[in-house]
Amino acid sequence: MASTSTDIPAGLTTTKSPFIEQAQAAGQLYIAQPYELYTEANHEVWARLYSRMTERWDRYANPKFQEGLATLHLDPTRVPRLEDVNKFMAPLTGFRAKAVSGYVPSYKFFDCLRNRAFPTTITIRDGAVLDYLPEPDIFHDIAGHVPMHTDRAFADTLVLFGDCARTAAERAGSIADPHERIRRLTSVMKAMARFFWFTIEFGLMKGSGPGGLSVYGSGLLSSYGEISHSLESPEVQRVPFQLEWVVNQYFEIDHYQPLLFVVDSFDHLFAEVGRLVEWVREGRLDNVSPGEPAIAEADLQSFLDAAPA
Ligand SMILES: [Fe+2]
Repeated sequence: MASTSTDIPAGLTTTKSPFIEQAQAAGQLYIAQPYELYTEANHEVWARLYSRMTERWDRYANPKFQEGLATLHLDPTRVPRLEDVNKFMAPLTGFRAKAVSGYVPSYKFFDCLRNRAFPTTITIRDGAVLDYLPEPDIFHDIAGHVPMHTDRAFADTLVLFGDCARTAAERAGSIADPHERIRRLTSVMKAMARFFWFTIEFGLMKGSGPGGLSVYGSGLLSSYGEISHSLESPEVQRVPFQLEWVVNQYFEIDHYQPLLFVVDSFDHLFAEVGRLVEWVREGRLDNVSPGEPAIAEADLQSFLDAAPA
């Protein structure tokens, strides 16, 4: 077989990786991390992203995130190997980073969390777009999310999200009328997506940073610009977490968040996900406010497929 090294550019760069394209074309969602494919340019992007964040993490990040970073022994200069990350993480909370080739339909995503696996993007953004990219990359997933998964209360919270998805699918399965099943399920999924967004991705917690707050949301922890904006900008509304509000609050992904919610602690966050599960069960999320996020067909289908017939 002829070598492809001259005609296929090597590398695991977001949206430009032949390895990922081939895996997607073959329908492989869960993949290995072909570490040897990372180029020096890929490692350099990791190093640039990491080094400029350290000072911001010191100033804004929740202490549990800082502890997690230290626990994982990430190399600031090289893209991490998932197996190394898992060696340090799994003994603490059972969580493992699991390489994926791209978007994971939402039920499958939550079900992975229930099984303490975190679907992890292995590509890294192009060095020309350090600040903004719409899709996740390994910096967002490993440097933004995974340090939090070393904390037991946080890890248990993710597992509870998985239970919530299962409860939502089971409940949908019990609704006989197909239109009503889809209408209610769409509403519940919207509520779950909003809750996840305003906590796991963009959550703030009481703490010792500016304004008596700290950042634990991964979207903020992996964003050089937005992490400081989230705590310092007078344009951001920071309000105590209220479940009724969160599940009805639309969000947009293409600009800095103007509204953020503050939890007291990780135990508080865990308790609120517990309430979310109860609300699914009681039908209290069947009519949440319309608006963003839109629920994609593939995501809806993933829940319907999981619903008992
Ligand atoms: Fe994320």
